[in-house]
Amino acid sequence: MLIHPQIQGCVARNCHPLGCRAAVQQQIGRVRAAGTFAGPKRVLVIGASSGFGLASRIALTFGAGADTIGISFERGPSDKGLGSAGWYNNIWFREAAEQEGRVAINLLGDAFSNPMREQAIAAVRQHLGQVDLVVYSLASGLRVLADGTQVRSTLKTTGQPFTGLGYDIEHDALVAQTLPVASEQEIRDTVTVMGGEDWQVWMQALQQADCLAPGAQTVAYSYIGPELTYPIYRDGTIGYAKAHLHAAADSINLQLAGIGGHAWVAVCKALVTKASTFIPVLPVYLAILMQEMKARGTHEGCIEQMQRLFSDKMYGARGVVADGERLIRMDDYELDPALQAVVAERWSHLSPATFRQLGDIAGLRQEFMALNGFGLAGMDYQAEVSLEMLQTLRP
Ligand code: NAI
Repeated sequence: MLIHPQIQGCVARNCHPLGCRAAVQQQIGRVRAAGTFAGPKRVLVIGASSGFGLASRIALTFGAGADTIGISFERGPSDKGLGSAGWYNNIWFREAAEQEGRVAINLLGDAFSNPMREQAIAAVRQHLGQVDLVVYSLASGLRVLADGTQVRSTLKTTGQPFTGLGYDIEHDALVAQTLPVASEQEIRDTVTVMGGEDWQVWMQALQQADCLAPGAQTVAYSYIGPELTYPIYRDGTIGYAKAHLHAAADSINLQLAGIGGHAWVAVCKALVTKASTFIPVLPVYLAILMQEMKARGTHEGCIEQMQRLFSDKMYGARGVVADGERLIRMDDYELDPALQAVVAERWSHLSPATFRQLGDIAGLRQEFMALNGFGLAGMDYQAEVSLEMLQTLRP
């Protein structure tokens, strides 16, 4: 069959499985080009199949020779469709890592659940013994608690409703989008899903099971952003969840003191991922930011951010490089005041007539399509893909 992209709003409804392989290989190529570094050798990645988690896994495997276990929630081919991009990313990553002689185990299921924790502990014992690093990179709209209660996160603001211009990827058009004000309950629920509680439960379970090596570290990813995005992010429900995540890092850090370990939050740059393009208004900011960072030569994709995080800011010659609040600032280039002055100026002139000149909309679209295996160089999208072959692939 031939596979064409099906986009609905800012969500991809399908993927090109072989294009996903090209995208994984492209990331591997970038890590190889950046050179090796002395990093952790045994790593657990929670949220490993796309975005930052996948890029972390690739950077650590191909940059530092790490063996990894990756956990993700993805679906394979069925009568409902071809399966998700993350499903195939897991497969192609494992194949490439194994060719390199590395251990790469994919665990599929709900990372918020205790059975998945037990499965991960068993896999760590069997394949790695202990781990030197735990990467916590979940982005989810739903967390099912141990008693079966379903808690949903929302993307809303606080204070006043916020209206801005968003980008509709499906129709390639600017649209007015309003973030309503969240209720107290919605804030609490978003903190439950995207805050640090589950990260802490993971680290307690791993430590109790003696799965953490002496000096083990853990890192989770956060975002702060410039003032103009505060109503969307920092002062929104997700910002409350991230504040909770930052506090959890301090608790986990204390917890790990006994083994000489540390817990960190890396505050990252805004990047095009499945999760970020879903946030209202943010993609327009991303397009403006990308245009200006490309012009200055400071643009990074997920893989460049994660390669720099591990090789330079966590495992480089300087050890962990954190600010006074113990945050590892990977948003350093993004928050450059001169750059942000240009971004704010362009943001203020946004209109349906001007947005293509003010931001790198083509680049945004290209990165979004690539997440789902479309638009990759060297791919023949006119070639038939065999569903039978896809069904034989195992994560
Ligand atoms: P993503 O959507 O690309 O990846 C999310 C990962 O979580 C996937 O591997 C998915 O399978 C996994 N996942 C979701 N629910 C799960 C569940 N119940 N069980 C197991 N796995 C599950 O998202 P992205 O953007 O890479 O986000 C990762 C983290 O980075 C998030 O905490 C996000 O807030 C943070 N971040 C993202 C930024 C961005 O611009 N994209 C910027 C700064 C931080």
